[in-house]
Amino acid sequence: MFGCNTPDNNVKSSILGTSPLMSQNIEKKVDSLLSLMTLEEKVGQMNQYNGFWDLTGPTPKDGAAAKKYEHLRKGWVGSMLNVRGVKNVRAVQKIAVEESRLGIPLIIGFDVIHGYKTMSPIPLAESASWDMEAIQKSSEIAALEASAAGINWTFAPMIDISRDARWGRVMEGAGEDPFLGAKIAEARVKGFQGEDLSASHTIAACAKHFAGYGFSEAGKDYNTVDIGTSTLNNIVFPPFRAATKSGVRTFMNSFNELNGIPATGNKMLQRDILKGDWQFNGFIVSDWGSIKEMINHGYTKDGSSAAETAVNAGSDMDMESYLYIKNLSSLVKEGKVEEQVIDDAVRRILRVKYELGLFDDPYKYCNYDREKEVIGSKANHEAVLDMAKKSIVLLKNNRKLLPLKKEGQKIALIGALANDKNSPLGSWRIAADDNTAVSVFEAMQQYDKNSLVYAKGADVSLGETGFVTETKINTTDKSEFKEAIDVAKSSDVVVMVLGEIGFQSGEARSRTELGLPGVQQELLEEVYKVNQNIVLVLNNGRPLTITWADKHIPAIVEAWHLGSQSGHAIAQVLYGDYNPSGKLPMSFPRNVGQIPIYYNYKNTGRPVEPNPDIVFWSHYSDQKNTPLYAFGHGLSYTSFTYENVIVNKVNSSSYSPEIKVSVEITNSGDVAGKEVVQLYIRDLFASVTRPVKELKGFEIISLKPGETKTVNFELNSETLGFYDNNGEWLIESGEFEVFVGGSSDNTIKSNFDLE
Ligand code: BGC
Repeated sequence: MFGCNTPDNNVKSSILGTSPLMSQNIEKKVDSLLSLMTLEEKVGQMNQYNGFWDLTGPTPKDGAAAKKYEHLRKGWVGSMLNVRGVKNVRAVQKIAVEESRLGIPLIIGFDVIHGYKTMSPIPLAESASWDMEAIQKSSEIAALEASAAGINWTFAPMIDISRDARWGRVMEGAGEDPFLGAKIAEARVKGFQGEDLSASHTIAACAKHFAGYGFSEAGKDYNTVDIGTSTLNNIVFPPFRAATKSGVRTFMNSFNELNGIPATGNKMLQRDILKGDWQFNGFIVSDWGSIKEMINHGYTKDGSSAAETAVNAGSDMDMESYLYIKNLSSLVKEGKVEEQVIDDAVRRILRVKYELGLFDDPYKYCNYDREKEVIGSKANHEAVLDMAKKSIVLLKNNRKLLPLKKEGQKIALIGALANDKNSPLGSWRIAADDNTAVSVFEAMQQYDKNSLVYAKGADVSLGETGFVTETKINTTDKSEFKEAIDVAKSSDVVVMVLGEIGFQSGEARSRTELGLPGVQQELLEEVYKVNQNIVLVLNNGRPLTITWADKHIPAIVEAWHLGSQSGHAIAQVLYGDYNPSGKLPMSFPRNVGQIPIYYNYKNTGRPVEPNPDIVFWSHYSDQKNTPLYAFGHGLSYTSFTYENVIVNKVNSSSYSPEIKVSVEITNSGDVAGKEVVQLYIRDLFASVTRPVKELKGFEIISLKPGETKTVNFELNSETLGFYDNNGEWLIESGEFEVFVGGSSDNTIKSNFDLE
């Protein structure tokens, strides 16, 4: 009855662009270098420090900086993070290469999450494009700029699946779906690492956070994670497997504990699965201080046992816990850690350094001319603008309020975010210059045949906000409401830009309420009283609960935090110079009580209302079960009709299934447009219950008005199976449904059987 196949067997860590001969050479070089190293020098390679002082200034004499400097000279530092810019990177590299005994170059890490200085949209926004070519290109641009600034390793892609919009880090990921998440992981790894890791414009990628971080209880950052093997294998792992298959060179573990064991000290995750089953031969870096945090978790009692546990579990590099450098040498001498464990970790780290070409030229990323030429170039800005337009999702457009007319209109532009040049840069933009994004106000002024009047209405936050400071939201000051209401009264159309400021999502930015922050909801309702022709443009890093707006506001545009070119992208969409085609990568809940809410849920024993008067079925008594906007939802200025789903069973055996599905899509509106055609399946009866829908294919097509295209999909042994509770990959015979459409909640269907 079962066809069995394990896609994991096919997962093999490969080095892009590295031939077997090159790999053999690298292995030889690694071994010979390793044989020259003292135990302390080996441990040094496993030690990563944060950037520490004005690197080009005088040598520090005492304190933590002096110690780090001394360690660099002794060859006790393998990597640094947050050192950036050619001048600074050169300075640290010079100490490592020219002053330490063996001169081993540093690998320089940085959080290049959505661009380096020229910011592209936050990753959740880019995911809404469903456009793998564009996402790959965006990572290429990020690598191009970062590598020109001396960086050769990014702590990205972040590929944690999450079903919880309360968790601020959903802005960094690809949303809720493992299939889409896996494709995006692959595109990003390819984008950062390119075809040739040793080229000076490519950098090593890092798949993070391994694993389960997106399932932090109650959406509270760093919180406990307790999930079963089915969720782990079928939902959490797919993007990580895909990253490994694509040759990602590093992994980062996560802050959370998983089923009672902190990920950093989790042998099953790191040694058995990643380095064992998946044959990953790059290295694993801890998250910031996560080795030490195992003491707080109540898992290890002191620094020495934390280091012992982490290294034995497979964490190769210590980011800022200082525990490897303090303890590993003595742990080896005491026999608590075998030297071959250290050797394995060091081999992995050196391997990646060789692959990057750092031993051939440690300063290869340190070219002043290239730095000047590449960072912030016109071409990079054009690329991020293109990505920003592709990331926008049209959530609602009643009465065809959008696109706006280009002439003779009086337009009121309201909202602090409409005139904000900082927020669109989003969270994780350490190298970007503050206030450098194009605002909506600036961009809309270019459509100068309309009259445009701006009124702030209200501040979103009070005072300065930043990466490490808590954001203080304005919940009281409504003194500027009146001006906005007056402007709205005398306008044809009101564009309101509302939502979250850039630092309201991201790490440690969990929220328990997901409405428009502060007084913005009230502002929206007050303006609505005087003018109902409102276009609501959302700026945000996560799904928001905008149930009132959905009920009353005719047009809603999801514009996330779109990066440096944000304003231009939004203006072009509002005026119809770009027809939006983005689709949500994450469900929008109606209220926080619905969370976790996701399209690929299980059916339960009581899924549907048997009779309006009967209470005993799986539901809420005060809210619908459905989300406000479903996964995959997104409108266009044209419309598409789906017809004729045809299933062709080329091979219906569950041992080697091959099912072809075709569907016809017609542009039934009057402008050209792009559509993301989505294919879902349901395995109706299985030995472990399956979700009501699972995404298994998608394709972007462009259609002129009246044009019809046929899209073909194929389902096979990679897409028709699932992992059971023992981690076995199964493809079971029986009945399947197949759904095709422009959203997970708007599909037409057919079915087939596997024998
Ligand atoms: C984050 C990581 C990040 C690291 C280095 C941590 O707090 O969880 O995602 O890469 O810091 O900045």
